[in-house]
Amino acid sequence: MNNQVTFSVIKADVGGWVGHSATHQRLLEAAHNRLAQAQTEGVLVDFHVTYCGDDIFLIMTHRRGDNDELVHRIAWEAFEAATQEAKALKLYGAGQDLLSDAFSGNIRGMGPGVAEMTFEERRSETVIVFMADKTSAGAWNLPLFKMFADPFNTAGLVISPALHEGFRFEVLDVRENKLIVLDTPEEMYDLLMFIGAPSRFTVRAVYNKKGEIAAASSTQRLALIAGRYVGKDDPVCVVRAQSQFPAVGEILEPFAWPFVVEGWMRGSHNGPLMPVAVHQAHPSRFDGPPRVCALGFQVAEGHLVGPRDLFDDPAFDEARRQATLIADYLRRHGPFEPHRMPMEEMEYTTMPGIMRRLADRWQVVEGDGHLAQPAVTGETVDD
Ligand code: F6R
Ligand code: MG
Ligand code: MG
Repeated sequence: MNNQVTFSVIKADVGGWVGHSATHQRLLEAAHNRLAQAQTEGVLVDFHVTYCGDDIFLIMTHRRGDNDELVHRIAWEAFEAATQEAKALKLYGAGQDLLSDAFSGNIRGMGPGVAEMTFEERRSETVIVFMADKTSAGAWNLPLFKMFADPFNTAGLVISPALHEGFRFEVLDVRENKLIVLDTPEEMYDLLMFIGAPSRFTVRAVYNKKGEIAAASSTQRLALIAGRYVGKDDPVCVVRAQSQFPAVGEILEPFAWPFVVEGWMRGSHNGPLMPVAVHQAHPSRFDGPPRVCALGFQVAEGHLVGPRDLFDDPAFDEARRQATLIADYLRRHGPFEPHRMPMEEMEYTTMPGIMRRLADRWQVVEGDGHLAQPAVTGETVDD
């Protein structure tokens, strides 16, 4: 039976309420109305509009395959409609992620983030959408590794014959725009060598060894596309669960420990990723700490049965508490690394200007560390 369904999540920040902390209801309604029209016209089978912090997530199902021009255009128009509302309310950064004035064929590379996958709908199809704010695409590297390759996280890798063969990771080099496919467990150490550097290498997709898609994530880095600071990329990831894939609980388990990601204030700080319910996805303290939400759906003939808000569970209270402690600890470093990100990773900084201003104050040092002249000259003080 051919029952192919495409699960597309397209997201963008088109205006924050207040500052960069949350999304205003009127923006969600505007986006919802555009998608409702597309559903009435038969383009979308189903959809759900939601948010994480100041980012709007359009969760859509349809029969048109990945990278469909019409679906991407509809998403673009939904964000344009939301931008109109953001402008009317003078929300912060209205329209910021729409990098172009007009849609041109494929929304990838135009600002919004995309995670989509096409698959044969199983007898029971469980899908989880992870949405993050105040971090970037590489944030999924660690949890995807744990879900699909770490037997201390995913019991099924050891216990279940359906998972025992392992998984296949598609890794993107976001700087050089190259892609490599690595198998686990065979090539686990090679894989970790790359994805342990998440600002450069991001896991774009995971497949099982039969070639069935298990996970897809957004991988774009806005600053690399735009060539200037345009906010953080605030990524999305879609993961299929159960049966030949890890169980829902195995997929959520990596987030029970608040690992450190890049992002947070001004996109320039390392901080803990705090798992929260959607109603708590309003980063405030130091514009954070970074948040992640998980919405679960059963897909029935393309229809979305859900969402279930999966981090809305006291079992994640301890992760939230630990995230707050880690936030306290890191914050006390102030402008010092490793709280502040390494120089080359900082999105916008006063460094070039300071370097220029102080250029002729730098003195050349000899090989042995000595200066030809004393570095500081001044009056000698008499006793
Ligand atoms: C981080 C983020 C915020 C802003 C910060 C300053 O991704 O969006 O932390 O960087 O609020 O914003 P501007 O420079 O727009 O005043
Ligand atoms: Mg923002
Ligand atoms: Mg955001």
